[in-house]
This record gives sequence, C-alpha cells and structure tokens, in this order.
Amino acid sequence: MKENIIIEVEGLVKHYGEVKALDDISFSVKEGEIFGLLGPNGAGKTTLMEILCGLRKFDKGKVTVQGFDLVSDSYKIRSLIGFCPQETLFYDLLSVRENFAFSASLYSLDSKKFRERIEFLSKFLGIGELMNRKAQQLSGGMKRHANLATSIVHNPPIVILDEPAVGFDPNVKREFWELIKNLKGYGKRCFFPLMTCMKLTKSAMKLQ
Ligand SMILES: Nc1ncnc2c1ncn2[C@@H]1O[C@H](COP(=O)(O)OP(=O)(O)OP(=O)(O)O)[C@@H](O)[C@H]1O
Ligand SMILES: [Mg+2]
Repeated sequence: MKENIIIEVEGLVKHYGEVKALDDISFSVKEGEIFGLLGPNGAGKTTLMEILCGLRKFDKGKVTVQGFDLVSDSYKIRSLIGFCPQETLFYDLLSVRENFAFSASLYSLDSKKFRERIEFLSKFLGIGELMNRKAQQLSGGMKRHANLATSIVHNPPIVILDEPAVGFDPNVKREFWELIKNLKGYGKRCFFPLMTCMKLTKSAMKLQ
C-alpha cells in the first residue's frame, strides 16, 4: 500500500453499451481524508461508487482499497466499506431497529456487538426516538439519517455516501455535515458526491 493512500483509482473506464459512463478516471484518497466528487446528473458518480463497493464490473483500469485489489480481493474489500446508496433501502413494514438488525445480520455481527452498535448509532445520529417506528412512518430526512446508520452498522473504516444530504433543509444539512466530520473523528474515511454542479472530468476534488 502506498504511503497513506487508502483508495487508489487508475485509468478507470466503464461503458453501459454505447454509453461511456467513466472515461479514464484516476485519483487517490488518503487516510483520514473526506473526499467529495462533483459532477452533473449522469456524470458517472453513482457508477464509480458502485464499482468501488464491488457492486459493478468495470472495463479497464485498476482499483485498490487499503492495498487490496478490487477484482482479486473483492470479498475482503466489502467488509472494509460501508455504502450509503442514493436511494434509501428500507423495508417499510419493519421498524428502524429491525432494518438495522437485518443489515447487521448480513455482516454476521453477533447480538452483543449488534446491541452495542445500535446503542452507539442511535446516540451518534440522534435517532433514538425513531428506533421503534416503522420505516414507512419516517420523513425523507429521517430516512436519510437512518440510511447512513444502516451503512455503518458493521463499523467499517471507509464510508461511501451517494448524495447523502439530498432532501435535507439547510439547517439539517449543516448538522449532517457536522456529523460527517464527527465520523472522521471516529477514524472513518468518507467518500461522497457533494453536489451535482460541475462536470466530472478526469479528476475529482478533495475537500480537506
Ligand atoms: N444500469 C445502467 N444501465 C445503463 N446505463 C446506465 C446504468 N446506470 C447508469 N447508466 C448511465 O451511465 C451514466 C452515468 O450514470 P450515473 O447514475 O453513474 O450518474 P450520476 O453522476 O450518479 O448521476 P446523478 O447525479 O443523476 O445521480 C448515465 O448516462 C446513465 O444513464
Ligand atoms: Mg447518482
């Protein structure tokens, strides 16, 4: 692993049939960095993130995560990453707690670890009072908070967030960015598209 580099992407190319979604993308993310991607709708942000999470194949290039090759070590990499997708993925008829329990079961967390994580996340995200509510009763903003919690239930060192603050009002947005900075305090490296306002070219933008 190159010094301090946690994610390295070199010459990444991805086509969907005739559509070139990613055209020779290269960048690296260092340890402890919060890294934002900027690009208009359709620029390829979600595609890039899904590739990083091992959810999508790519045509050309090389990706390493914490020194592991995305193709040959994909199983190992999945446990290092928490992915908060653009669409909230909740079972509406289950409570927030039950949705978390389902996610935790996918990562084989034992029940003691699960209870500890739930305790921590509900305090950290300030969603304690939502835990027993059915997902269908949450507002869009509440769902986004709970969606973030679901993606970090297994305590991954790297968190990838796809447009995590869409639908928040300005105050909640500010609080949410504070939360992301706090996550960094817990040793997480965050990677997310910040907003959709600039063209994603061959490079991305570092926030700090
Ligand atoms: N499953 C798919 N099959 C075919 N084409 C796709 C698929 N997913 C994305 N695309 C195309 O790839 C390009 C990049 O899409 P992507 O969703 O990665 O962009 P994005 O930057 O996340 O956009 P947005 O800001 O709207 O979320 C677009 O032209 C889109 O139509
Ligand atoms: Mg997208």
